[in-house]
Amino acid sequence: MAIPRDFINELVARTDIVELVGRKVQLKKAGKNYSACCPFHSEKTPSFTVSQDKQFYHCFGCGAHGNAIDFVMEYDRLEFVDAIEDLAGQLGLQVPQEKGIGQRKDPSVSRDLYELMDEASRFYHNQLKQNPDKDKVQKYLQYRGLSSEVVEHFNIGFAPDGWDNLLGRYRQNQDAQNKLVTTGMVIANDNGKRYDRFRDRLMFPIRDRRGRVIGFGGRVLGDGTPKYLNSPETPIFHKGNELYGLYEVKQRHRNPKTILIVEGYMDVVALAQFGVDYAVASLGTATTAEQLQLLLRNAEQIVCCYDGDRAGQEAAWRALETALPLLKPGDQIKFMFLEQGEDPDSMVRKIGKDAFEELIANAQSLNDFMFTNLSSEANGDKSKFAKIALDLIGKIKDPILQNLLLENLSHKVGMNSSEELKKKLGFNAQAAKANPLGAKGIKGRGTPLRLAISLLVQKPTIGTNLPMQPALSHLSMPGLDLLIQLLDLTRNEELTSAQLIELYRDKPEFNTLKKLAQWDHQITDENLQHEFKKSLVWLNNQYLEQRYQELSLKSTHTKEERVQLQKLISIIKSQK
Ligand code: UTP
Ligand code: MN
Repeated sequence: MAIPRDFINELVARTDIVELVGRKVQLKKAGKNYSACCPFHSEKTPSFTVSQDKQFYHCFGCGAHGNAIDFVMEYDRLEFVDAIEDLAGQLGLQVPQEKGIGQRKDPSVSRDLYELMDEASRFYHNQLKQNPDKDKVQKYLQYRGLSSEVVEHFNIGFAPDGWDNLLGRYRQNQDAQNKLVTTGMVIANDNGKRYDRFRDRLMFPIRDRRGRVIGFGGRVLGDGTPKYLNSPETPIFHKGNELYGLYEVKQRHRNPKTILIVEGYMDVVALAQFGVDYAVASLGTATTAEQLQLLLRNAEQIVCCYDGDRAGQEAAWRALETALPLLKPGDQIKFMFLEQGEDPDSMVRKIGKDAFEELIANAQSLNDFMFTNLSSEANGDKSKFAKIALDLIGKIKDPILQNLLLENLSHKVGMNSSEELKKKLGFNAQAAKANPLGAKGIKGRGTPLRLAISLLVQKPTIGTNLPMQPALSHLSMPGLDLLIQLLDLTRNEELTSAQLIELYRDKPEFNTLKKLAQWDHQITDENLQHEFKKSLVWLNNQYLEQRYQELSLKSTHTKEERVQLQKLISIIKSQK
C-alpha cells in the first residue's frame, strides 16, 4: 500500500457518505437513517440504508455494505487505489504517495505512459482505415470472421509494416521516445538503435479495469512466428495481474454472474461477437492467483475453459492448484473441456451461442474435476487416492471448505467420517490452526465480548478517553486482542465507524468488523455507553476469575500471590 494511512483516514472523514450515495441514488430520510432501493441488486421496496452517524451503508436484501471507499469501489467498479483517487478528486485533494513502495511513485510519469499507450492504440485503430495495406488487413479480419462492431468494441487495430511507424511520430520529442521504450512499444538494441516492437500485426489493446490501455498483443496476419507478440512487463503492465477482456466484460455487465476464462485473445473476441460477452483471457501464461482472485471478486461463478487435449487438462490442473488456497465457501469455480481440435473461437462459430452456453452450464464442479482426475491417477489404489487427495485438500486455507472436502473424500474412500480419515493419515487440519477471529471466532451471538466489539465498532466515541484496561491483556479469550486494539485506536481519537473499520481493510479482521458494524444488538442509544461499560466489567471479572482459579490450583504460593488471592476472594465474594 503506497497511500499513507492518515490520508485515507482523512478522506473517509471528509467525505459524507449520505451526500456521496445521494448523488447516485435517490435517498429518502427514514428515522435516523436514509433509505433507497438498493443500487447493487434489483428490488421494488427499499432495503438499502445509509447511516449518517456510522458513515456506513448496508443493504438488508443483498448484504452489500461498507463505507465511502467501498461504495465507490462497488458502484463505479474501481479498485481500491482508484477509488481513493476518485474520492480525493471529488474533494480537490492530491493523493500523496509513500516513498519507496508501490509501483506508482511518480504519478506524472505514469500518466504520460498511459497517454502514450492511448495514442498508440488510436494510431493502430486508425490504420485499419487509413493504411495503404488496409485491404490486406480487412481481408484478414473477414477471413477470421470478425464483425466491425466487435472490432470497435475491442478497439482492434493494425500495426503497419516498417521499423518506425510509431516511433517516427515522436521525432521531435526525446522524452516521449524514451517513454515508448519504457512502455515496451519501442525496442532499443545493443547499438542504441530504436525500432517499433510491433510490425505488420493485428493489434489487440489490453486495458486495465479503468479502461486505460496498458499493453498489446499483436498477431501475425498469417502463418509467421511468433504467432503472437505481447508487450513485456512494464511499470504499467503486469501480466499476472491483468486479464484481457475484463474491462470489456464489465462494460456490458455490472455484475456478471459467470465469467469464462479462455486461452486466447481471438477466443474472447469471437465469443463476444456471438453473444458470449463475458469471457476473459489470461495473457499467454498460466492463470495466476491474482487473476483468479480478481475474477472471484467480479463474478458469482468462474468457468475455466480449456481445449480437450492433454495440454488443456494440464492447464486446468494447474489452475485448480492455484485456486485451492484462495477458495472461500460459496466461491464457484468450474471446469469445461472442448472437443479435441477445437478452441472457443472455432467452437462458438460451429455450434452457436445457445449450444455453447449449454456447455458452460454443464461445466464440471471443482469437486468433480478434482476427484475424477485423482481416480484416474490413482488407478484403483484407494490409499494412493486418499494420499494425493489429502495433499490437495491440505492446500485449502479455508477451514469450513477444507472440512467439506474432507467429508467428501472420506465417503469416497469408504470411511465413516473425516475424523477417522484425518487420524489415519495424520492430517493436520487447517481448522485447528484457524484464526480465532474468523467467521466462527467470536462465538455465540450475544457474548459480552462480541457485544463490546460491536458497540465500539458502531459507535467508536464510546471508547474515547476510556482508561487503559490492563487486566484484559492477561485474559486468554479468542477475540480479545481485537477488542484491546480497538480500545487503543479509539482512546485518543474520535473516529467514525467507517474510519475505524477502514484501518482494517488489509487485515483478516476486516470482514468480521464489517459484519459486527451491522449487527442489530437491540440496545437503544441512551443505553449504549452503559451496556458497553457493563461488558468491560464482565470481561474484567473474567480475568479475576481466571486468576483466582490459576492461583487456587497452585499448591504453594509466594507471599505476593497469597495477598492477591485474599484480595480476589474478597472481590468475588462482594460481587455475589
Ligand atoms: P493459441 O495458439 O491457442 O492462439 O494461443 P489462438 O488464441 O487460438 O489464436 P488464433 O486463433 O490462432 O489466432 C493462445 C494464446 O496464447 C498466447 C496468446 O495470448 C494467445 O492468445 N500466445 C500464443 C502467445 O503469447 N504467443 C504465441 O506465439 C502463441
Ligand atoms: Mn484460435
